[in-house]
Amino acid sequence: MDKKVIIIGTGKVGFALGYALYQKNYDVYCYDRNLDKLKQFYRLIKKPLPQQLPFKDSKIVFITTQDSEIKKTYEEILPHLAPGCIVVHCSGALSRKVFKTTDRKKIIRASIHPIQTFVKFNTRSNPFLNIYFGVEADRKARPYVLKIIKDLGAQPVFISPKDKPLYHLVMVLASNYFVTLMNAVQILGAKIRLSQKKLFKIIEPLIMNTFYNIKNYGAQNALSGPIKRGDVLTIKTHIKILKKKAPKLLKLYSVLGKETVNLSALPSPKKKILKRLFKT
Ligand SMILES: NC(=O)c1ccc[n+]([C@@H]2O[C@H](COP(=O)([O-])OP(=O)(O)OC[C@H]3O[C@@H](n4cnc5c(N)ncnc54)[C@H](OP(=O)(O)O)[C@@H]3O)[C@@H](O)[C@H]2O)c1
Repeated sequence: MDKKVIIIGTGKVGFALGYALYQKNYDVYCYDRNLDKLKQFYRLIKKPLPQQLPFKDSKIVFITTQDSEIKKTYEEILPHLAPGCIVVHCSGALSRKVFKTTDRKKIIRASIHPIQTFVKFNTRSNPFLNIYFGVEADRKARPYVLKIIKDLGAQPVFISPKDKPLYHLVMVLASNYFVTLMNAVQILGAKIRLSQKKLFKIIEPLIMNTFYNIKNYGAQNALSGPIKRGDVLTIKTHIKILKKKAPKLLKLYSVLGKETVNLSALPSPKKKILKRLFKT
């Protein structure tokens, strides 16, 4: 299978993808409108910055720009693409249909979304190892993208185009909203003089065990704490202290509190009492 790959957009995902493919002996060519990022990439793979991208003899082109730029970037490169070329993006929210096909070029389309979070690049680990990619692809693209996913050490999970927005929402809740929740934890931790480093060291076993329990026994069975016990007094104390020390977090606490009450196996009258507390 052809191992020449072009990647347009050498940001967090494009850079990591390019480097991981380079390590798997792919012949990688990148482009980014930011020349510094581009130079950094070519320095890393010890290749001179090419004058032009080899569109004519590249079977696969990735567009790893921001989601909002994917369509426009595709339209810009379309005249240069070889007929029968496979165009791939890595967005979780968009389907492959963002690429409009033309009869003349017979472009083959795919979207492969790495279910991973990319923040800072480092050469020591492969962020694609053992992860899943959400895949939806034209039939002819499948052998190529599945081979790439396998070469990266990952696995596919097939998503229909109509499910993509909901699929993406699941991943956003699992990762981004978890970050927001941990930020709230950190704000409150600072109020008892726990540094970020110390706090996350302390709560790491708590988080990991909670995750283990959810994964193995389901969310309802993984629940512990004051809401599960129906402990009105403790929740009243939390609300009082939040009002005083971090009023901006009261809404978050209340929204999640209500959902936690719904999740709990408490009897209905007790649930009603607790929910009233969260109407602050
Ligand atoms: N980050 C994640 O954790 C993550 C996870 C899964 C999937 N994804 C998906 O991966 C894709 C890339 O996300 P990202 O986080 O890597 O974004 P990013 O870090 O912002 O990188 C995008 C890069 O593309 C460049 N670019 C934009 N338009 C361009 C154009 N027309 N020509 C050349 N370069 C262009 C940007 O340059 P400027 O800096 O000048 O704008 C930037 O360097 C998105 O579809 C995203 O949904 C991201």
